[in-house]
Amino acid sequence: MADTPFLPHLSSLFFLLLLVVHVNGRSKPLQLRTLLVTLLRSPEALLPEEYEAQSLATAVGSQSEATLSLSSLHFDLSHRDSLLAQTASPEQIFLLRLDRDDARVESVRQMLAEAAAPPPRNVTGRKGFSSKVVSGLAQGSGEYFARIGIGTPPRYAYMVLDTGSDIVWLQCAPCRRCYSQSDPIFDPRRSRTYAAVPCGAPLCRRLDAAGCNTRRRSCQYQVSYGDGSVTTGEYSTETLTFRRSFRVPRVALGCGHDDEGLFVAAAGLLGLGQGSLSFPSQIGRRFGRMFSYCLVDRTSAGATNRSSTVVFGKSAVPRASSRVAYTPMLRNPKVDTFYYIELTGVSVGGTRVPGVLTSDLRLDPSTGRGGVIVDSGTSVTRLARPAYEALRDAFKAGTTGLKASPGGFSLFDTCYNLSGRTEVKVPTVVLHLAGGSAVSLPAENYLIPVDTSATFCFAFAGTDSGVSIIGNIQQQGYRVVFDREKSRVGLMPRGC
Ligand SMILES: *[C@@H]1O[C@H](CO)[C@@H](O)[C@H](O)[C@H]1NC(C)=O
Ligand SMILES: *[C@@H]1O[C@H](CO)[C@@H](O)[C@H](O)[C@H]1NC(C)=O
Ligand SMILES: *[C@@H]1O[C@H](CO)[C@@H](O)[C@H](O)[C@H]1NC(C)=O
Repeated sequence: MADTPFLPHLSSLFFLLLLVVHVNGRSKPLQLRTLLVTLLRSPEALLPEEYEAQSLATAVGSQSEATLSLSSLHFDLSHRDSLLAQTASPEQIFLLRLDRDDARVESVRQMLAEAAAPPPRNVTGRKGFSSKVVSGLAQGSGEYFARIGIGTPPRYAYMVLDTGSDIVWLQCAPCRRCYSQSDPIFDPRRSRTYAAVPCGAPLCRRLDAAGCNTRRRSCQYQVSYGDGSVTTGEYSTETLTFRRSFRVPRVALGCGHDDEGLFVAAAGLLGLGQGSLSFPSQIGRRFGRMFSYCLVDRTSAGATNRSSTVVFGKSAVPRASSRVAYTPMLRNPKVDTFYYIELTGVSVGGTRVPGVLTSDLRLDPSTGRGGVIVDSGTSVTRLARPAYEALRDAFKAGTTGLKASPGGFSLFDTCYNLSGRTEVKVPTVVLHLAGGSAVSLPAENYLIPVDTSATFCFAFAGTDSGVSIIGNIQQQGYRVVFDREKSRVGLMPRGC
């Protein structure tokens, strides 16, 4: 830069201005992103021994482990697919994931529909049990899990973490009916810290579906899944241990003696929803009502050796707030579980897509219909169909240089044959959120490999279920912050 001040003649400045306006008014150049073409891979297998020995040295920020353990709780997550890594092909694993995804969307839809129009109570049914909480380990019950110690001394088992449910529960011996899980079933009689919740206790009254075991005088819980299966047993408090050393006492959890589910392997579930009995709500007094996670898809091109993590407490909120796109956290008055945000629009290639209408994406508080939730247990983002179609058409219009792969793939209707390419340019996709935040997704979060022969699909789908869902493929690589203290949801890029 020259030191001498540059003072252009006024008329030439005016001419320049005209030129800029002219170019913008005509056709803005398409904004592009580069996608590295990486074929579908198998997820890394999970080795339990290795997993348990995972180092404790992955502290957040610069805090030492000691301070961290006072204010925050931090541990690693694994993707459900890693359990299948050695038994199925990448394609099979991916198709199973899409099947689970359908079940997930259906269970969310059902939960919201039931809340909007509760079925009439039928007194001939099991008295007092009519849970509207969809939870548990059915097909669509959550994609990430962690190894957690239960009781004293701690017995370790896998538990699914799920933003789409509230109740914490696990299978317990003796079983009337239990599904198979990979670790021995927890036996409360062998734990020093297990305590049944008495009938009539405040905790028991907070359950949506509570009963009383008159013989033991203990509170009974029941949780029904969207697909009709249930878990039922004794509501209790117990100590949970995280990362081999961090103990959280008196967590209210269901000890399920009668459980039907389809998910073999996990022992139970840690509900992360907004409801008052969810894990973050329970530990909120001690840690602050905030948590964040970062989900890494080890099968994707962007995957590094980093693993997915979750943080509860103050450290969950990144200090570099300028890097975080925050938007108000909304709540559906009909169902308090889900984390709603307001999506105000989408841009493709730098231009707002006119057909993505706020009216198709807004939550109607009087009916509980509509709206957009952020969910860890859904993989592919679902948008209200008209919004999806407008987005897809805009994307297709920006990818005329790519070879289309006719016929689509599973729920995807827009796919490309990228065979022989090492990288391609695709239009940018930006989510606009209430409050003015914009989230410009990395290309690998919306054009994804679906097989090992270079078919890539646009990873959004339309839905008629009445609710739109931001799924975990679109969240990959972001630190997703659920800050209930400030009623906001944040997305921080490169946050893993
Ligand atoms: C309750 O359910 C039973 C069997 O499922 C049915 O026969 C009965 O009519 C129902 N009662 C009411 C009030 O809906
Ligand atoms: C990351 O993983 C690759 C392959 O598994 C390995 O070669 C490399 O050393 C790892 N890098 C780090 C920093 O651990
Ligand atoms: C993709 O294109 C290549 C040639 O570029 C072709 O050989 C291959 O069969 C195509 N794949 C599919 C699934 O059509």
